[in-house]
Amino acid sequence: MLALGIGLTCCLLLQGAQAVTVYFQNGAVVNPTGAVTSTAVAAQYTNDAAFNNLVLTAPPVPSPAPPQQFTIQLQQSGQNVQGLSIQHTGPFFGFSIEFSVVTQTVGRNSTFLFVPFLNLMALIAERAGYVPIRVGGNSQDTATLVDSLPDGAVLAKDKADSSNPTQTPELIFTPDIIYMLSNASALVPIRWYLGIPMNDTTDLRLGIAEVAEAVLGDNLLGLQLGNEPDLYAGHGHRAPTYGPFDYFGEFGVVVNAIGNDSNIPIRNNLVAPSVATGPWTPELVWNTGFIPAYSNVLGSLSVEHYPDDNCAAAFPGGPFGAPKVPQDVFSNYLNHTSGVQIVAPYLNSSNIAQQAGKPFVMMETNTASCGGFPGVSDSFGSALWGLDYGLQMAYSNFSQALLHVGGTDDTYNPFTPPPTNQSEFHQWSVGPLSYSTLVMAETLGNTNTSQLIDLNANSGNIYTPAYAIYEKGSLARVALFNYITDPSGASSYTATISIGGGQTGQPNGNPSQVTVKYLVAPSVAEKTNITWAGQTFGGQLASDGRLLGTYDAQTVQCDQTQNTCNVQVPAPGYALVFLTNDALEESTPASTATFSTTILTKTINTATVDPTVIATSNGQGGGRPFLLGSTSKGSDGSAATAAVVAPTTAVLISLLAGVVVMFEVMRRT
Ligand SMILES: *[C@@H]1O[C@H](CO)[C@@H](O)[C@H](O)[C@H]1NC(C)=O
Ligand SMILES: *[C@@H]1O[C@H](CO)[C@@H](O)[C@H](O)[C@H]1NC(C)=O
Ligand SMILES: *[C@@H]1O[C@H](CO)[C@@H](O)[C@H](O)[C@H]1NC(C)=O
Ligand SMILES: *[C@@H]1O[C@H](CO)[C@@H](O)[C@H](O)[C@H]1NC(C)=O
Ligand SMILES: *[C@@H]1O[C@H](CO)[C@@H](O)[C@H](O)[C@H]1NC(C)=O
Ligand SMILES: *[C@@H]1O[C@H](CO)[C@@H](O)[C@H](O)[C@H]1NC(C)=O
Ligand SMILES: *[C@@H]1O[C@H](CO)[C@@H](O)[C@H](O)[C@H]1NC(C)=O
Ligand SMILES: *[C@@H]1O[C@H](CO)[C@@H](O)[C@H](O)[C@H]1NC(C)=O
Ligand SMILES: *[C@@H]1O[C@H](CO)[C@@H](O)[C@H](O)[C@H]1NC(C)=O
Ligand SMILES: *[C@@H]1O[C@H](CO)[C@@H](O)[C@H](O)[C@H]1NC(C)=O
Repeated sequence: MLALGIGLTCCLLLQGAQAVTVYFQNGAVVNPTGAVTSTAVAAQYTNDAAFNNLVLTAPPVPSPAPPQQFTIQLQQSGQNVQGLSIQHTGPFFGFSIEFSVVTQTVGRNSTFLFVPFLNLMALIAERAGYVPIRVGGNSQDTATLVDSLPDGAVLAKDKADSSNPTQTPELIFTPDIIYMLSNASALVPIRWYLGIPMNDTTDLRLGIAEVAEAVLGDNLLGLQLGNEPDLYAGHGHRAPTYGPFDYFGEFGVVVNAIGNDSNIPIRNNLVAPSVATGPWTPELVWNTGFIPAYSNVLGSLSVEHYPDDNCAAAFPGGPFGAPKVPQDVFSNYLNHTSGVQIVAPYLNSSNIAQQAGKPFVMMETNTASCGGFPGVSDSFGSALWGLDYGLQMAYSNFSQALLHVGGTDDTYNPFTPPPTNQSEFHQWSVGPLSYSTLVMAETLGNTNTSQLIDLNANSGNIYTPAYAIYEKGSLARVALFNYITDPSGASSYTATISIGGGQTGQPNGNPSQVTVKYLVAPSVAEKTNITWAGQTFGGQLASDGRLLGTYDAQTVQCDQTQNTCNVQVPAPGYALVFLTNDALEESTPASTATFSTTILTKTINTATVDPTVIATSNGQGGGRPFLLGSTSKGSDGSAATAAVVAPTTAVLISLLAGVVVMFEVMRRT
């Protein structure tokens, strides 16, 4: 049984998808019906890729093995560090949610928001300031806003477009989708990127921009114009001759129309060109004169990229040839070279963006397109990969990167709701990339001043990369990776951190002690037993979006005479070393409690949590921006009623795909 974490007070969990259990404060376990309800594991219920149970074999310890002891010599002041990144003025990692699954991931509509989603986002926002989320993808270019749909629906999918190899359905949606995003932002600081459809620039559909600007206001980060335009010709959406100058011209048509649309008052928030870096390099677009021509309407410059694809498996018998074997590609994600290689083609562009004064954003990325690789994209290895790749992008002057969330056909989802026919007895699956996002938020902090350097640690050994993070110009954290799996324990390493000293005119700078948080799992192949600072989201179909378990950070005593702090990194694992109390406190919210949930299902159980327990069990930390207190006043448990009221004192009764989730939240400011 999992122990309760700080601030994790009263909630109902589906532990390991094995039994319905209600946890009350202080760890008492209550079974609401007195009956064990389900003992089957998730995989028995579904063949969906998102819930596959393929566990690969971790690569052997490399030969030669990396040195197990090395020194990291650091400068206290960022001014003395060559090659430090730009200052990151906001959160780095966010999500890119495929438009067609937004009603499975964010909420059903503007009055039914999914509690696990809100909880996950609250965890990240508490640490990063806000969560950037793009709703779009292949489906955005053909999405059409209509006033209403039959039967109160807010999103409808037309039959799949057979000319589109990713088979994303054409979408019709109502303004309620935008209200849904806005209502989510009223509860948790989430800011959104949306996309203006570009499939037909002779018959523009600017409705999404009009409604988004009116409804989302400051919570609209930008409007993407063009999604992977270099793939338009290949996907049959444009003539085979379609090139960067054609895109340049079409972009201008839309810009002109936006300029004439008085319902789109903000006209400098476009995000482009979002090339997949398939047929076109970003340079081909820059060479059209794109940036100077559109500088006044561009909010950010953008690209999208996946380092590999699993299209042959997704489309057997298609043009993609023999499917790749997941075990064969696994090691591609298990060393530092991967992130470095992905980022290398963009260094020129991130520099060009910097000169143009524009953020450079990776609008959509993940392990592999066409759904990812089972056993790879959903393994602990992908959590390490995601973190290293993210840190490499941040070091290379990307400003933001959004990890793609698809549907249940995809293995790479940071989070996946249960298939709808299982939602009565299952919760969400939180994947390894959610840990990358959470840990990234803690690694960069929220001062809007973080700067990074890739330390080329351990003489550049590809299995043991490390980064230093500066805040307000001063050393704040060190991030240490170990990509190797070795259950014997023999491949853990010790990094000796030494600040200042050793250099002419530099006093010894080590503190007397440092705090270390670990992201660990038994193997890079592990799928669910992953912990960050002792806490976990649990197994498949088992998460309500909150961290479980007891928070656990290590204190390491340093030797101030020798000016050394010895930090151990297990194999595999990631260690985040906090060099100052400020850095630690900034990344460690006082409470992880966010939205409490009560689950009432038809047959599984009829738990009603004692209102006085809820009333006293949340928000006792106080003082932090996103602490949410809770009482049960106003909850009547009726599935048919749903309400979102004022953002400061909100009562939501939410239907979670068949599971009735009641919650109310009160923001303490
Ligand atoms: C849910 O639907 C899938 C696909 O239709 C089916 O294979 C599975 O057995 C169903 N699960 C339950 C619990 O009904
Ligand atoms: C949201 O969906 C639920 C049913 O899933 C419905 O009862 C409610 O009226 C809907 N709200 C809006 C604003 O459409
Ligand atoms: C663009 O998308 C809309 C909406 O899906 C569709 O009706 C229209 O036919 C598409 N236009 C082209 C040229 O493909
Ligand atoms: C929530 O959505 C409804 C539309 O259903 C809207 O009337 C309301 O203003 C929204 N609330 C917020 C805080 O955006
Ligand atoms: C926008 O307005 C200008 C001048 O008023 C006009 O020349 C142009 O054709 C308009 N563009 C569109 C797309 O309506
Ligand atoms: C960077 O991009 C610019 C614009 O496309 C190009 O002129 C220049 O040659 C590129 N530089 C490098 C080093 O690739
Ligand atoms: C390291 O990763 C790169 C990039 O993915 C890959 O090409 C290479 O084979 C990997 N090296 C080893 C030794 O696995
Ligand atoms: C990132 O930008 C900084 C500041 O301009 C520069 O010094 C550094 O070399 C850049 N990093 C990379 C990897 O291009
Ligand atoms: C960081 O910038 C955001 C605006 O993007 C601001 O709301 C926030 O207060 C800033 N944080 C700090 C610590 O200054
Ligand atoms: C989970 O992993 C940890 C190491 O990270 C290990 O000590 C523990 O025994 C594992 N638990 C299970 C249930 O496999």
